[in-house]
Amino acid sequence: MRYADPSANRDLLGNRTLLFIFICAFALVTLLQQILYGRNYIKRRRAPECQWQRQLPSQSTLSRCCNAPAFLFTTQKNTPLGTKLKYEVDTSGIYHINQEIFRMFPKDMPYYRSQFKKCAVVGNGGILKNSRCGREINSADFVFRCNLPPISEKYTMDVGVKTDVVTVNPSIITERFHKLEKWRRPFYRVLQVYENASVLLPAFYNTRNTDVSIRVKYVLDDFESPQAVYYFHPQYLVNVSRYWLSLGVRAKRISTGLILATAALELCEEVHLFGFWAFPMNPSGLYITHHYYDNVKPRPGFHAMPSEIFNFLHLHSRGILRVHTGTCSCC
Ligand SMILES: *[C@@H]1O[C@H](CO)[C@@H](O)[C@H](O)[C@H]1NC(C)=O
Ligand SMILES: *[C@@H]1O[C@H](CO)[C@@H](O)[C@H](O)[C@H]1NC(C)=O
Repeated sequence: MRYADPSANRDLLGNRTLLFIFICAFALVTLLQQILYGRNYIKRRRAPECQWQRQLPSQSTLSRCCNAPAFLFTTQKNTPLGTKLKYEVDTSGIYHINQEIFRMFPKDMPYYRSQFKKCAVVGNGGILKNSRCGREINSADFVFRCNLPPISEKYTMDVGVKTDVVTVNPSIITERFHKLEKWRRPFYRVLQVYENASVLLPAFYNTRNTDVSIRVKYVLDDFESPQAVYYFHPQYLVNVSRYWLSLGVRAKRISTGLILATAALELCEEVHLFGFWAFPMNPSGLYITHHYYDNVKPRPGFHAMPSEIFNFLHLHSRGILRVHTGTCSCC
């Protein structure tokens, strides 16, 4: 028979008691932590109402879709001489990249990933009228504007003047400037308003766009303008459209504003949207005009603006970009 030491048994009991006390203390601390964390959690959930917290755009799923730092424009690198470039919508159409157009392309993309700290993408919505956001827009490191919008003195208080990239819809060149087949100076004068801004055109959207878009380059060269001319890469536009379609944006065509905002998310650390709204009233319930400069309604069914805006608001709530719909007070 083995000798059992009673004190060993007592020790074991003592250890059990200690263990029990330890477990109780641990549970209590965990409970307290949960309560404290819970309070913080509620506070954090409330925060977005008054304070918008930025997230890096690269944290969004966007980086898997569209490579703006390599493909936003046609370049000599991504579109070599001899390429049979497919149009975005005229899918049977092909443009043979010859020496003449190849030399118009930049060697490589002029921008790289997260190059700019703060970018403003300025839409033309009536929500910008009386916003007094001009100074805040001018304070951005890089400013995109859509479709030759007016930035004369009458509007600068609300929309600013700084412009780094301005897009031109070839239909404007056709309608307002006779496809540049006649006098070119009026068109040149309009572009001069944007000083050094690069001019960006969807030259390979459909076959009708190509010749007028190329003429823009000749005009600026003839007038010895410092402004660069770039063309959207059609495959980039196809990919961006597909990406937004997967998020529910169903339209004949996504808007230029959405394309620029998508590119900005890759090129900028912070993306601020101004003038993007799709409703007859602003968030305070006041009626607004369609554009900040006129009240001409768009072609119905061409763009799906409300669904674009809802996507922007969703990205805003996640802190990925910032949608400005109110008045600006500071910079
Ligand atoms: C335009 O570009 C020139 C030369 O690159 C520069 O000196 C000038 O400051 C620029 N002007 C504006 C308004 O950015
Ligand atoms: C478009 O997306 C496909 C894959 O979905 C990718 O292989 C291609 O490189 C993308 N092209 C551009 C120009 O972004």
